[in-house]
Amino acid sequence: MWWQDAVIYQIYPRSFQDSDGDGIGDLRGIERRLDHLAWLGVEALWLSPIYPSPMYDMGYDVADYKGVDPVFGTLDDFDRLVAAARERGLRVLLDLVPCHTSIEHPWFGENPDWYIWRDEPNNWLSAFGGSAWSSLNGHWYLHSFYPEQPDLDWRNPDVIAAMQDVLAFWMDRGAAGYRVDAIDRLLKDPELRDDPPASEAFGLPVSDEEAKLALTNSRNAPDTPAALARIREAVGDGVLIGEVYLPSAKWQPYLEQLDRAFAFELLHAPWEAAGLRRAIEATTSRPGAAWVLSNHDFGRLVTRFGAENARSAALVLLTLPGPAFLYQGDEIGLADGPGGEHVYDRAGRDRFRHPMQWDPSPTGGFTTGEAWLPLVDPQSTNVEAQRDDPRSTLSLVRDLVTLRKLLGDGLELLDAAQGVLAYRRGDHTVAVNTTAEDRPAPTGGHVVLETRPGALRGRTLGAHSGVITMGL
Ligand code: GLC
Repeated sequence: MWWQDAVIYQIYPRSFQDSDGDGIGDLRGIERRLDHLAWLGVEALWLSPIYPSPMYDMGYDVADYKGVDPVFGTLDDFDRLVAAARERGLRVLLDLVPCHTSIEHPWFGENPDWYIWRDEPNNWLSAFGGSAWSSLNGHWYLHSFYPEQPDLDWRNPDVIAAMQDVLAFWMDRGAAGYRVDAIDRLLKDPELRDDPPASEAFGLPVSDEEAKLALTNSRNAPDTPAALARIREAVGDGVLIGEVYLPSAKWQPYLEQLDRAFAFELLHAPWEAAGLRRAIEATTSRPGAAWVLSNHDFGRLVTRFGAENARSAALVLLTLPGPAFLYQGDEIGLADGPGGEHVYDRAGRDRFRHPMQWDPSPTGGFTTGEAWLPLVDPQSTNVEAQRDDPRSTLSLVRDLVTLRKLLGDGLELLDAAQGVLAYRRGDHTVAVNTTAEDRPAPTGGHVVLETRPGALRGRTLGAHSGVITMGL
């Protein structure tokens, strides 16, 4: 399988490259920057939603599953992008948003029975806070996310048929598969019963309100695999990577049909060796993990783990066995931004979505106009300056992308000094010191890669640094 150990680069289309000066990234812009991805050595790119949308949730509220939003371009632009990517050996994954549409999708008005209704709300909560129910004409419709995103009823065969048609449409146009959005919300309790009070922790971060409930009826219904089988049927052998927001112990029903699930336990682990080790142990005890440490919902490596640890975080992300997702900008150590004057995302995620910084100019080479969100710091952090600097984060990430192909199969977690995460991949040993002090290294051996020069001195691993060695 091509994706088995692939690096898949997440493009947030609004913020990657603008080609027409409107300050918003687009498909032509992505096409222009494909050489960056080919040079970096990644196998594929995943596009966050490009479909027509009123953008209440920045495209995760789809108003037409078979089109391209004019702000991003046209279907022709998509075809051109796929062809140009293919010429460079790059595959294109789309974002499938199956659980809800935009409230402005014609389906909502034309086929209300494709959605989930109730005469009274139950106690289910929206992921963004408050009740998951809103009223319309005296009835209540379910929205697991924003009120502008009504949930589809996947027990209705017409919904399944419509979605299968959508899935085939993009596969026929050359998509290599999908990242599948919020898939643990696909099916809920058919009787829409209340979520009972929580008797144990959910296993991943949730809001204080949600933590009080078991969240067993509002998601993750037992017949999920049957619905996923219909998705699989339409996609054939295309790759399906699930955003399953559940601890890995609950992945199994999803992996009956999906190829991989994002390992959110690792994404949420604090930057501390013991916690990282526990998360890796849990998520590798069965096959199925896709690795991700940053994205448009949770923020970037530099901000999440600290600038001093961001390179080590990239090292871990790119040396675990299985597909790894690299969020645009993390290859240059871009930090989260402050947001802008205008609030686009009511849940506060604008700061994770600032434009890519290609050069040191004030607009970072991202646009000739005014960027929809301000650039963070193009002068100090940009692709152009880092490309030919062997000590840059960009060079490190590129080296890691190359090196990971040489790592052996499997993963053996090693015992190491407190504060040091270490594992073996065949002949190679990866060690990361998560602390602010020198620590004994679990390995001597020949240094193949360091997060900074002199990270490993004899048998001492420097503070906040990581290393890959070969031999003992
Ligand atoms: C996923 C997306 C997120 C979106 C939500 C609802 O979690 O990554 O951006 O808001 O689903 O579609």
